[in-house]
Amino acid sequence: MNTQAIREKFTELYGTEGAMYASPGRINIIGEHTDYNGGFVLPGAVDKGMVAEIKFNGTQKIRAYALDLNESSEFGFASDADAPKEGWAKYIFGVIRELQKRGAVISEGFDTVFSGDVPLGAGMSSSAALESTYAYAMNDMLGLGFEKMELARVGQSTEHNYVGVKCGIMDQFASIHGKAGHLMKLDCKSGEFEYVSFDPEAHGYKVCLVDSCVKHELVGSPYNRRRESCERAVAAIQKNHPEVEFMRDAEIEWLNDVIGEITQEDYIRALYARQEVDRLREACAAMEKGDYETAGRRMYATHVGMSVLYEVSCEELDFINEVARECGVTGSRVMGGGFGGCCINIVKADKYDNFVATVQKKYKEKYGIDCKIYPVVISDGARKLC
Ligand code: GLA
Repeated sequence: MNTQAIREKFTELYGTEGAMYASPGRINIIGEHTDYNGGFVLPGAVDKGMVAEIKFNGTQKIRAYALDLNESSEFGFASDADAPKEGWAKYIFGVIRELQKRGAVISEGFDTVFSGDVPLGAGMSSSAALESTYAYAMNDMLGLGFEKMELARVGQSTEHNYVGVKCGIMDQFASIHGKAGHLMKLDCKSGEFEYVSFDPEAHGYKVCLVDSCVKHELVGSPYNRRRESCERAVAAIQKNHPEVEFMRDAEIEWLNDVIGEITQEDYIRALYARQEVDRLREACAAMEKGDYETAGRRMYATHVGMSVLYEVSCEELDFINEVARECGVTGSRVMGGGFGGCCINIVKADKYDNFVATVQKKYKEKYGIDCKIYPVVISDGARKLC
């Protein structure tokens, strides 16, 4: 991470030095669009993320500089009316406002410069990394005493209330709680989680992301529409089974019972969400036994579900997934919210080089785009650097 460049810019702009904090992006092995359906997810933090240098400035303004965009923004934080115009600055503003809503007293503004190496729009949660960096930093610098899970909720609420994406908790949770060498199996309904040791190399596998480098739609509204579909299906099921709070709680037969009461679209979205809850359970159980092949088959099934039922894949990601299958990749699927971004792949070590070379060549031939390969290194979560 480019801490040197951040420090130089900070000194140039503000004539001093501040404290540095970092938060990572994430991968997710399986369990996609399950978080807001009350299901499980299996993310891990990665070695790419956001870094911010921060120093309180004795004024009522936050002065922020986005190094990668060479853009600055200055805004107050006393009320929502102070919201900045710049999209990226809304994340910082939202975090401060959400901390204040939870009782934090933030009596002065700060100066900050940030930069990141999580690829934007790749489905690796660059925005959660940004939110987590500032939530974690404020908690630490001001001694606010919030639990880590509450800091994750601060980031999630920022998305809901200041960005307009009704996301689940997975990304912010993973960015804050990440641990090197471990995935996290999170029950998104209860908030309980466990660290699961993840050492694919010890089992003869490698994990990589293939970034399609395409982004087809604005993530916000299509994402929110899928969530609403699942919520409508739950509302219909609740008439017969009032105990059902999320799709995770429903039996598939219960969904089938209300097929005439909801639209076909809501039905297939909810069906995917419920099936994905089971797939995660099966994949986790298999991986605990070192059975990556079974877990990999579930990943392919998830891809089909995300492509055909949830409709969050795209032609390019389907193509990458197909090339993976042809190359004998163990598990492959579109990762994250979808609508472009990355495929995550678990590959037998002896098939890895051929897969990488083949997907790069075929993707370029078909779409004229160089896809990017990111080997996955599972790393620590939010932290103070210096
Ligand atoms: C985005 C959201 C997450 C989650 C994933 C899909 O990354 O921010 O909460 O819903 O999509 O699993």
